Amino acid sequence: MTARLGMHTLTRDRGLLFGGDYNPEQWPEHVWAEDVELMRAAGVNLVTVGVFSWARIEPEPGARDFGWLDRVLGLLSAAEIAVDLATPTASPPPWLGHRWPETLPVDESGHRLWYGSRNQFCPSSPVYQERALSLVTDLADRYAGHPALALWHVGNEYGQVCHCDESAAAFRTWLRERHGDLDALNEAWGTTFWSQRYSEWDEIVTPRRAPYLINPAQQLDWWRFCSDALLAHYRAERDILRERTPDTPITTNFMGLFKPVDYWSWAGEEDVVSNDCYPDPGDPLSPARTALTHDLMRGLAGGRPWLLMEQSTSAVNWRPHNVPKPPGQFRLESLQAVARGADGLCYFQWRASRFGAERFHAAMVPHAGPDTRLHAEVRAHGQELRRLASVAGQPVPAQVAMVFDWASWWALEERGRPSDRLNATDQLLSYYLPLWERGVSVDLVPPSAGLSGYALVVVPNLFLVSDADAAALTEYVRGGGVLVVGPFSGIVDERAHIRTGRFPAPLREVLGASGEEWLPAAEDTPCRWADGTEFTAHTWTELMAAEGAEAVAEFTESGRPAVLRHRTGEGVAWYVATMPEPAALGELTARALADAGVRGAVPGLPPGVEAVRRGDVLFLLNHGAEAASVPVSGPAEDLLTGAAADGPVTLAPRAVVALRVQG
Ligand code: GLA
Repeated sequence: MTARLGMHTLTRDRGLLFGGDYNPEQWPEHVWAEDVELMRAAGVNLVTVGVFSWARIEPEPGARDFGWLDRVLGLLSAAEIAVDLATPTASPPPWLGHRWPETLPVDESGHRLWYGSRNQFCPSSPVYQERALSLVTDLADRYAGHPALALWHVGNEYGQVCHCDESAAAFRTWLRERHGDLDALNEAWGTTFWSQRYSEWDEIVTPRRAPYLINPAQQLDWWRFCSDALLAHYRAERDILRERTPDTPITTNFMGLFKPVDYWSWAGEEDVVSNDCYPDPGDPLSPARTALTHDLMRGLAGGRPWLLMEQSTSAVNWRPHNVPKPPGQFRLESLQAVARGADGLCYFQWRASRFGAERFHAAMVPHAGPDTRLHAEVRAHGQELRRLASVAGQPVPAQVAMVFDWASWWALEERGRPSDRLNATDQLLSYYLPLWERGVSVDLVPPSAGLSGYALVVVPNLFLVSDADAAALTEYVRGGGVLVVGPFSGIVDERAHIRTGRFPAPLREVLGASGEEWLPAAEDTPCRWADGTEFTAHTWTELMAAEGAEAVAEFTESGRPAVLRHRTGEGVAWYVATMPEPAALGELTARALADAGVRGAVPGLPPGVEAVRRGDVLFLLNHGAEAASVPVSGPAEDLLTGAAADGPVTLAPRAVVALRVQG
């Protein structure tokens, strides 16, 4: 990441950013003037323009029509609304697929996916690349130095996967680089199994649909390749932009915990980390899930501020049953992002579409127009964000780190394992939840991160771990850290080969414990803490033995350890050989926090209330259905209202306070 460019480049003169995707090509020009007027009234200071405008700019191969975009940018610039200008390469026009069908993606069954929707491109197609890059070059040449241009938005939600012959050829090139020669590849993929040995590079294809289970090492390399192939294309676009506009930051919008793209390897390639986030109003775990995603974005940004590129004012249109958001909900969610490090709050989209596949998606200006309850809330929110300008750039300090890794996620969830009910993101959320409930801030980090600054490191699952990363976890504990490791961790190496011997082989010493069998459970499993208190575990158990660790909980029937705690070196390592019910995981978390000497932002936080400290501001957000009283001590000022607070703060459902506190 270029140190010089970042969110501060955008916020230093504007404070927090507020706006959304603006698709003026869907509207006659007379609507544009009204849009800009409404944007100003709502305090909009950033809009994303042009994400799906390829066909409008290049109506036929090689043509260019920038006139309309000149006028849009002119209007926005006159109104001092900054533009996040998109390279429109996520949705090629029909002429590309019609004339060059090889640019269209192919699924794992060999079926081509057609135009008439969006995202229909093969990232490895030379024709797609050439056409996309030529358009990006002309776009950058035209708008370099334009007063409206504040940020580049490369593509949209990268995630395409393609199994065509060109992708297979690119996969082979990638494999040659990774493995060197065919013997090394055969070894890494374990191709002596099921007679899969490759005798020539050309025999290797993408993991296309096959009669039975696919080789897991091949599948793992495929995940890696797909993420890298997209990254290569992103970089090619970015380099064109960077060369022409070195002072304009560049981003591409992420999708939270999105499996196909390893965001740890992407984040350093952009100046601003941005994310699209659509909490499901029908899911009671949404507030914690969303907080986790925001913490991931802050981690990807290396602790610096990030941009919430897309969220929705109310219902989306792509769930089977699209529950709307009650009044106050999108504001609550927006402020949750601010509390967790976002310096920009943008929405999909500005004005609700009249036509097209997203005509039932909520927007900042609904079909019913600006004189509506929803738009009034948008306007009020845009205005109140100005009161939080001083929060921009402030850090969110955390003493707890949670390790998450894409390669391990990919490797864990291959088919043909002991239980497909043990999933990486479910594990992540279950360990995050008790920390969130206690108002403990967490940094999401990759396994290679420096850990010594953290009092507690939680590893919900690290099925795949390298020797170096396992050694770093061991060192962390020896040096005085507190580590919590969840089940089925440390099982395979980077090739997805099982590490033989008692598990988890590379962590056995630090955990002071080891196991010999994985025992997915047919039903709930009774457990008890050392003091006899009972709890239930589910789904997964392991046959473990203590080797220096103390068994702090055991499986009631077998008497074998279920949770182990090992004092070693200067630190403490915990191992959880099962999936405890939430209350028990809460108890375990409380004990590990005590070991680490970490406390939440507010003691005695009522259920449903989220507490986060950002800089000198304590955010309290009530996600619950009841009013809640939060014990805050000392005088403070609510930045959102200017009101003074001293003593307990009462929060109505969906209410937020942003208390500037001392100390
Ligand atoms: C994503 C896309 C947008 C739009 C929204 C709808 O975030 O980037 O173009 O499709 O989803 O929720």
